[in-house]
Amino acid sequence: EQAERAKLLEGYEMAAKLYQYILHNTEQGKAAKAYLRDRGMNDKLIETFGLGYAPARWDTLTNLLDKKQYFLPLMEQGGLLSAKHDGNGYVDKFRDRIMFPIYDWKGQVIAFGGRAMGNVQPKYLNSPESMLFHKSRTLYNLHLARPQIRKTQEIVLFEGYMDVIRAWEAGIKNGVATMGTALTSEQAESIRRLAERVTVVYDGDQAGQTAAYKSIPLLENAGCQVRIAMLPDALDPDEYIAKYGSERFVREVIETAVPSIKYKLLYFRNNYRLQEDGEKLRYIKQALKLIAGLSSPIEREHYLRELSSEFRYSLEALQQNLNEIRLQTE
Ligand code: GTP
Ligand code: MN
Ligand code: MN
Ligand code: MN
Ligand code: MN
Repeated sequence: EQAERAKLLEGYEMAAKLYQYILHNTEQGKAAKAYLRDRGMNDKLIETFGLGYAPARWDTLTNLLDKKQYFLPLMEQGGLLSAKHDGNGYVDKFRDRIMFPIYDWKGQVIAFGGRAMGNVQPKYLNSPESMLFHKSRTLYNLHLARPQIRKTQEIVLFEGYMDVIRAWEAGIKNGVATMGTALTSEQAESIRRLAERVTVVYDGDQAGQTAAYKSIPLLENAGCQVRIAMLPDALDPDEYIAKYGSERFVREVIETAVPSIKYKLLYFRNNYRLQEDGEKLRYIKQALKLIAGLSSPIEREHYLRELSSEFRYSLEALQQNLNEIRLQTE
């Protein structure tokens, strides 16, 4: 078991090196390099994140490992090779894809994400769960982000590889990603073990905003203080940076992230047509319920005042309603 793990690690490491070599030093790598340049990545960034390229051929990795026969079945298990149907040898599973190594916190390669460059489905192909890789426990980029996370006691949480990498270039060195799936309680716990504060910077589309909303209770139950950043026009962080630049990203997205309660208030607002009295009252009720859930009296008063001045209801009336809600839920 221990020996198997070590061998799988060795196999992934060899594969990562091969993909990197091909990206940087071969003719086949040129289009991939151009793709990455096009997406705003210089060589230093590509090297920092260990990116590589798996060529379109069926036998690139297979040929390399053929000289070390004992790796072949193991790498099939590890999801980088497939056994041929006739039982006669193996073929590469990742072809014509940009390869993102996924590292554990020690910096060992434990999986890969492979992005198609064209309009191929699936857009990303992941190597499978293995004795090394448990997706629900892994956070992308933890190994590089750790020092800055420790130093600042803060973590920035993204959806995707590209977001983490682009944000890194923009100066955000404490960014990690969930790799597209919903945040798990295990990931929330490991975030809390490293840092007290989290800023969630998910994609600006509806899916991203819903995922951000759902991450709040998980992170708060783990004991984190949560802020949520909002992106305009359904952009994701990578697209925002490409469009508006790094400085504006830090200043207008990261630094304007709002506390989770504020985010929930904004999130629910979109469901109500506030020009209509009935809808407005229903929103107020919903908002009061959220505010009632705050444990700090100062915070409750703060958001109550905001509600009061925005909707022109007296603080007394709102306070009275809030007290009723708090009594009901006690
Ligand atoms: P780009 O288009 O390269 O910028 O990717 P993205 O990160 O913006 O993609 P998206 O927002 O759709 O997804 C966020 C993350 O989810 C990605 O970084 C991947 O980790 C993961 N993901 C996205 N699409 C797929 C897919 O088709 N399969 C798998 N396994 N993961 C995916
Ligand atoms: Mn997607
Ligand atoms: Mn998305
Ligand atoms: Mn995205
Ligand atoms: Mn993107």
